[in-house]
Amino acid sequence: SVTRYYDFKVQTASITKLCKTSTVVTVNRMYPGPTIYAREDDRVVVKVTNLTPYNISIHWHGVRQRLTCWFDGPAYITQCPIQAGQSFKYRFTFLNQRGTLFWHAHISWLRATVHGPLIIYPKQGVSYPFEPPVEEHVIVLGEYWLRDIQDLERQVKESGGGPPGSDAYILNGHPGPLHNCSRDDVYTINVTQGKKYLLRIINAALNMEHFFGVAQHTMTVVEADGEYTKPFDTSFLMLTPGQTYNVLIKADQPIGKYYMALSPYMPAKSVPFLNKTSYAILDYVKHTKSMIPHEPILPNVNDTESVQAFADQVKNLYPNQHWSPIDVPLKIDKSLFFTIGLNVLSCNSSDPDRSCQGPNGGIFAASVNNISFRRPMVSLLNAYYNNLEGYFSTNFPDKPEKMYDFVNEAPNNIGVDTQPAIGTQVSVLEYGWAVQVIFQDTGTVGTENHPIHLHGFSFYLLGTGLGNFNSATAILNFYDPPYRNTVGVPVGGWAVIRFRADNPGVWFMHCHLDVHTTWGLSMAFLVKNGKGKMQTLPSPPPDLPLC
Ligand code: C2O
Repeated sequence: SVTRYYDFKVQTASITKLCKTSTVVTVNRMYPGPTIYAREDDRVVVKVTNLTPYNISIHWHGVRQRLTCWFDGPAYITQCPIQAGQSFKYRFTFLNQRGTLFWHAHISWLRATVHGPLIIYPKQGVSYPFEPPVEEHVIVLGEYWLRDIQDLERQVKESGGGPPGSDAYILNGHPGPLHNCSRDDVYTINVTQGKKYLLRIINAALNMEHFFGVAQHTMTVVEADGEYTKPFDTSFLMLTPGQTYNVLIKADQPIGKYYMALSPYMPAKSVPFLNKTSYAILDYVKHTKSMIPHEPILPNVNDTESVQAFADQVKNLYPNQHWSPIDVPLKIDKSLFFTIGLNVLSCNSSDPDRSCQGPNGGIFAASVNNISFRRPMVSLLNAYYNNLEGYFSTNFPDKPEKMYDFVNEAPNNIGVDTQPAIGTQVSVLEYGWAVQVIFQDTGTVGTENHPIHLHGFSFYLLGTGLGNFNSATAILNFYDPPYRNTVGVPVGGWAVIRFRADNPGVWFMHCHLDVHTTWGLSMAFLVKNGKGKMQTLPSPPPDLPLC
């Protein structure tokens, strides 16, 4: 293994898209940002220099950061932001990791334009657990706003209402031919008939879950969230923000042009969003005349049944190969039950300079176990490491106060017991504990699919289902559960995960729809040190940004 050095200059750049030139925050003036290439077990050093007037931090999404919590990146959780003119060197290894992940800004909503791929190849001399493709392509999915993203965030915070939908869904920086002024703003992959390709697909979108498919081509899924899966064929993927999939695709159709399509999955009612498909093109080389592209058929915007059927097919590659040794904790030391969902705060009881444009004249909030997370003034990790008092408490509840019927008709929660508390609380885990978390989507202002992402670990996803979790009837997979970092907790449903808390530090867990994180759908685990050196978080790096 080697050390690879990257230089990230965070700077504004002018981008012309959808008939308008805007100034956006980028890394190295690229949108999407630069790709980091490495091999399993390689070390990377990324020097991030902030040339913008804004605060910045970068997160390496899906990198397990074993004993390197200081470099994880979420602002106010593991570090203070890198301020204007400052820099910070992120240093970590891709220990026992290979596959497709990504990096992104982890402060305010800057992830919208500040993101890029992490491509980790197997170790030298180790092959993929499938026939090698002739070529690989990375497709980064995103959402594009014509409005300044930080203005938009401010407006959402001040109004108490929901965010407007984006102006286009984006494939590798391109909205595709059906949008205004975008006839030539199209991402194209050239393929040769009969050959096999690997597509590495990353959903970096800010607030939208997406279907992806290629007209008349079957995809074979071989990896999810940077871990190999049992191969299965599908005509579409559903990727939540934060999820990545690798698929094989064979150019086995008549010579022609085929659209690759990106469309929204939005099961919640009364949420404003852009209901429009964006296209890229799979282009067979040697076609002669200009051909009309074939269009794929994707599930309907609210087709939760198809989403569940797709999710159920994702299984660990185990036991077929040595690539995915599996270690599902069978005995658990800590059992947690977390309700996740949206709430409404009554407006008079909160911030006076907000207008009350949320549901029923309130302010949107979101919570885990009815606690809406408020970020501290210093980083949680710093506060913990240096025993600074008063920044957080350690009493995050193991379960909600009341086990009401979570998903039936939404109670109007203004003034009743579903009004969330606001706080900065962490759940403390002893080193090495086997932890189970049951997530239950709640319905206080209508239910929505929440992509829950855990920092610092991958987890075994034992199962998901619709309705209330019921231990007597839930079917859990202990044999070959996928090893993921982001789970789409089904709308009005549940998910069960297990992981071993063997990485000391403070680890954020949150909904990967940025607006929900803003509203408080997040919490943090504090994993204590164990006894040996390999169980102890080292001291902070000298250049760690302070608040
Ligand atoms: Cu990809 Cu906390 O984020």
